[in-house]
Amino acid sequence: MKIDRSNDNSSNTLTIDGKSVAFIKGQTILDAALEAEVYIPHLCFNPKFEPHGSCRVCMVEVNGHTHCACTTPASQNDVIKSDTREINHDRRVLLQMLFTEGNHFCPSCEKSGNCLLQSTAYELGMVSPHFSPNFPIRTVDASHPDMLIDHNRCIFCSLCVRASREIDCKNIFGISKRGSQTTLTVNSSSGRLGDTDFSSNDFAANICPVGAILHKGVGFAKPIGNRSNDITPLKTQAISGEGA
Ligand code: FES
Repeated sequence: MKIDRSNDNSSNTLTIDGKSVAFIKGQTILDAALEAEVYIPHLCFNPKFEPHGSCRVCMVEVNGHTHCACTTPASQNDVIKSDTREINHDRRVLLQMLFTEGNHFCPSCEKSGNCLLQSTAYELGMVSPHFSPNFPIRTVDASHPDMLIDHNRCIFCSLCVRASREIDCKNIFGISKRGSQTTLTVNSSSGRLGDTDFSSNDFAANICPVGAILHKGVGFAKPIGNRSNDITPLKTQAISGEGA
């Protein structure tokens, strides 16, 4: 949440990794950090929506306790640690679990180079999946004329759910079940995307941070190596407001 500071004379501050960061009441730690150009890794956060707090990649230490930066309000004199060996290790474990719980084959994915999961893994120095892959059996829904859902790559960030409900006012998507059974569902009687009024112009059609909801017919139109995260590091995009 970007806040207009033009008429704000308050001087609340906290520190993140020793850097003094100003904030105003109502901002979360992640809001304050991004506005101060301090990168805190995150996946399910998008400034257009209320924070969801599900991926936990934005975890930070606040006055000695672990919290999600995207859901925790900034408070005066908070002492926050983010870029530490221990916290980055825990974030890498979360990423490794996401990679191994789904089927993510970056070299053959058309979202490679423009994928928040992949780029966050690079940013955090993840060099291997560490855990044994689950290789779950998941489907691809290609029933829609313009869009497809590759369930193999869904990370359940719920951005499509929130976008469809709050911006498109269609409520096309949902998340069902829990744990390893968590599933992205489509709200139609058949459960197929082609049986909804989903449009490739919907906000939800253009918000998936990974390669789960894709436009048909444009894959690899921009070659790997020339994509947004290939050219500008994720960290730079995040603090400039260019990325999520
Ligand atoms: Fe904060 Fe996902 S970005 S929990």
